[in-house]
Formats: sequence, C-alpha cells, structure tokens
Amino acid sequence: MTSPAYGDVDYETQRGGYARGRRTDPRIAALVRAALGDARTVLNVGAGAGSYEPGDRHVLAVEPSAAMRAARPPHLPPAINAVAENLPFDDGSVDAAMAMVTVHQWSDPDRGLRELRRVSRGPVVVLTFDRDALDRIWLTDYVPALVTADRPRFPAIERIEAALGGEATVSPVPVPADCVDGFIEAYYSRPERFLDPAVRSHQSVWGFVDPHAAERGLARLRADLDSGAWDQRYGALRRQPTFLGALRLITAPPAQRTALRRPAAPSPRPEAVRRHHCSSAASVRKGDLNALAPTRPAGDPPGRRWSVAWNHGQLWRQGALAGRGTFSSPTRRSTWPGPSGSPGSSRGLAFVF
Ligand SMILES: C[S@@+](CC[C@H](N)C(=O)[O-])C[C@H]1O[C@@H](n2cnc3c(N)ncnc32)[C@H](O)[C@@H]1O
Repeated sequence: MTSPAYGDVDYETQRGGYARGRRTDPRIAALVRAALGDARTVLNVGAGAGSYEPGDRHVLAVEPSAAMRAARPPHLPPAINAVAENLPFDDGSVDAAMAMVTVHQWSDPDRGLRELRRVSRGPVVVLTFDRDALDRIWLTDYVPALVTADRPRFPAIERIEAALGGEATVSPVPVPADCVDGFIEAYYSRPERFLDPAVRSHQSVWGFVDPHAAERGLARLRADLDSGAWDQRYGALRRQPTFLGALRLITAPPAQRTALRRPAAPSPRPEAVRRHHCSSAASVRKGDLNALAPTRPAGDPPGRRWSVAWNHGQLWRQGALAGRGTFSSPTRRSTWPGPSGSPGSSRGLAFVF
C-alpha cells in the first residue's frame, strides 16, 4: 500500500472501485434520515462519493480524497477539500452533521468528532462499527485476522459518545440480506460473494490482513461451499432477512441540550440502559440483566413490558422484565444466527422497548 495523505486507506489508487461497490442502502438511509430529524442544512464529513446524503436537504460535503471527490455523481453537491479535524465552518453553522463509516480513518477521531459537535447546532449522526462486535459475522471463523486487523482501527463506541458530549443514542443497525452497501456484513447470507476479488476490494480491512492468511481462509470457505459444510453450519442465514452484527448508528443530541443536562445529578441507571432506553438496544453483559429492572424510569406506566434479549454463546433468548430485579422465563428460544462472539461469551444485546 502506498502512503496515504490522510486516513489509513489510499483511495487515490483505487480508481473509483470503492464508489462502485459501496452504495447507499435505502433501508439504512431511512434510519440515517430519521436520525437527522428535521434538519434543513446537513454537513456530511468524510463524505466519499456521497452515500447516505439526503437528497431533500441542503448538503455540504467534506472529503479530503481527490479520487473520492471526483467519484461523486453529478447530481450531488461537490465536496470541499478538508478534514474532519479542522472543519472550515463557524460554530453552529449547520442544522446537523453526519459521518458515515469514516471516523475510523481519521488521524484524530476525538478532535474530528468535537469539530462535528462544534459546527452542528442539531444532532451529530455517526454510522460506524462496534469494534467489540466485529466477530459476529461467520467470515471471521475463516479469516480471524479480519478481526485482529480491524479492531484497533475502530474507536470504541464509548469514546465516540464521549467526544460528542457524553450523551448519545446507540442503535444496532439491522443489515438487510440484499444490502447494496458492500461492507463485509452486507454479504452475511451470500458467502460466495467473498470469493470475488472485486467484492473484497470495496472492503478496506482486507488490505490490513496478511494475504497468505486471507488466501488460506478463502480456500477453506470455497471448499466448505463446495462440500455443503458451510450450508450445514450457517445455511439458516440464507433465509434470514436481516443480520444484527457490528453496524451502529450513533445519534448525539444538539450541543445545547447536552450542555443543559450536564449539571444534572448523575443518573443511578447503568450506562447501557440510560443511553438506550426506549425502543433501542445496548451491549450488555449477562450479569447486567437484573440491573436493568431498577432502571425503569419513574414515569413508566404500570404493566409496561420490557423485553430483553441477549446472546451468549449460540443462544438467543427473549423475555420480559417482570418486576424489579426479576427476569421472567424466556418466551422464545432459537439458535443465534451465526457465531456471534466466542463460545461462552457473556456479551449480548439488550433491547428495551
Ligand atoms: C470508508 S469511506 C466512506 C465514505 C462515505 N461516507 C460512504 O459512506 O461511502 C471513508 C472516507 O473517509 C475519508 N477520510 C479519511 N480521513 C478523513 C479525515 N481525516 N477527515 C474526513 N474524511 C476522511 C476518506 O477519504 C473516505 O472517503
């Protein structure tokens, strides 16, 4: 890899390949648009070729790669040549700021995120991958180096939240089976696609993996697909409409709201739930499940049902918090779709509705 002028990927030598394979997925775009709220002016930082830019708002785009700027289709506004860490905009000059799958490439993510916070008078919306959930996709059974290479590249979710002011909603993004944005998880149900070098060329992590290790893993995948071993083990994924992996949408509220809330007494609720209360999800540990019950806000109507689902090892369970500190018996059991986490792992997702 030649030395890039910014980030950890040299897009100048990719000849537009990235933009061909990585396109706006409409289902994910709908979540981004909802997170942007009623913002009229939106700044897209690390904009690339323009994926997820909402067509019905006034968009300002920032993108340091000349090749990426050139790959922007003509119907989109041209991008300004600048970096997240030093945005050429006044404080509070846009209604919202967004950063789609780019934060992990910034040389100083904290500084860049503080810049987004500074220039947005409304929400800051970040689409990224949770480094702790990168091993949810079965492909990492074949090429474990994908996780070891990618994990250090991604800032922890908590670090992103802190840089944005300390209060944010973190939502897992369901990846559709026919996702058109070609990141790795997009192909969770289409294993054959990983054998195509063109598909892998849109996924920057392959450039950080020892090519021999990658080739060995892919040869094993090819053999398992030929013999039917892949389908025996993961075949259910071919019929699964969405996949909950590592993709996360982080929405940080307007700076003023964060500032107003800062002096308030610290919440007694565990961080995971405080952030994710109301139809959202949190990454939790098994031991935290009972701790969820006392976190029900005082105003919660009596009898309200709280569902919690988590996976540890291969098991997915769903139930309800029956009362303070009690977790009712699971109402549904099924096999967790894919090797999410190492066996015996106590990490999981808790959904609180
Ligand atoms: C993986 S691409 C994502 C592009 C686009 N947001 C998308 O979703 O397709 C990451 C982008 O971040 C840009 N980038 C790298 N370092 C940056 C920085 N310091 N500030 C802003 N953008 C940066 C790259 O040039 C690249 O276009």
